[in-house]
Amino acid sequence: MRLDQFLTSVLGISRKDAKIILKQKKVLVNQKLETNPSLQIDEIKDEVIYNNQILKYQEHIYLILNKPNGYITSTEDYNHQTVMDLINHPLKHKLFPVGRLDIDTEGLLLITNNGPLSHELLSPKKHVSKTYYVEIDKAFPTDGIEILKNGIMLDGTRSVAEDIELINETSLNLTITEGKYHQVKRMMAHLGLNVTYLKRISFGNLKLPNDLEIGSFRELTASEVELLVNSKKGEE
Ligand code: URA
Repeated sequence: MRLDQFLTSVLGISRKDAKIILKQKKVLVNQKLETNPSLQIDEIKDEVIYNNQILKYQEHIYLILNKPNGYITSTEDYNHQTVMDLINHPLKHKLFPVGRLDIDTEGLLLITNNGPLSHELLSPKKHVSKTYYVEIDKAFPTDGIEILKNGIMLDGTRSVAEDIELINETSLNLTITEGKYHQVKRMMAHLGLNVTYLKRISFGNLKLPNDLEIGSFRELTASEVELLVNSKKGEE
């Protein structure tokens, strides 16, 4: 990979700015000052230092955000704050949310630059489980589990609850494997219930970490990325 390309992808700067910092003699490659933007480097093996910091090349970025109420899941919006307003990362402009949570839904939201993986995780054919903690305005009916496990028609196809765990009369954990528009709210509405609080607590094999404060994000660890990639069950 060219040195200027390496700098743009790690630092999130333009090629023009990469050339400027090289010209300013601020970049060392394997302990040697380098100014040539077209120098070919091995992005994994070579050590590149800028501002006394070793730059680590990562093709893909994976962030986990604990989304708060009041933010829309979009990269930009004229009227509302977006989840990207909560993200501080040099490559932010290349990142996007994996799927969508409603403005008033909280919890686990993945943010990445890996388009193909995002597509696979969202494909209904891959059956990636998503679990939501749901609070409702009335007692969950006794036949509710059976009805939702058999499935209800939403947008012309059957939507099934993969798992339902009742916590008390008015709260439950609901696992689904699709991501239709307002799916959980519409499944509850089918039983005559209104959702009063909704939070996604897991996505595939990944759980929302207890110590990730609402509104905060962090990078996934290598083992968490592996867990995520292994979440895909079905075939496309
Ligand atoms: N189902 C909903 O109704 N809303 C969400 O944000 C996610 C799932």
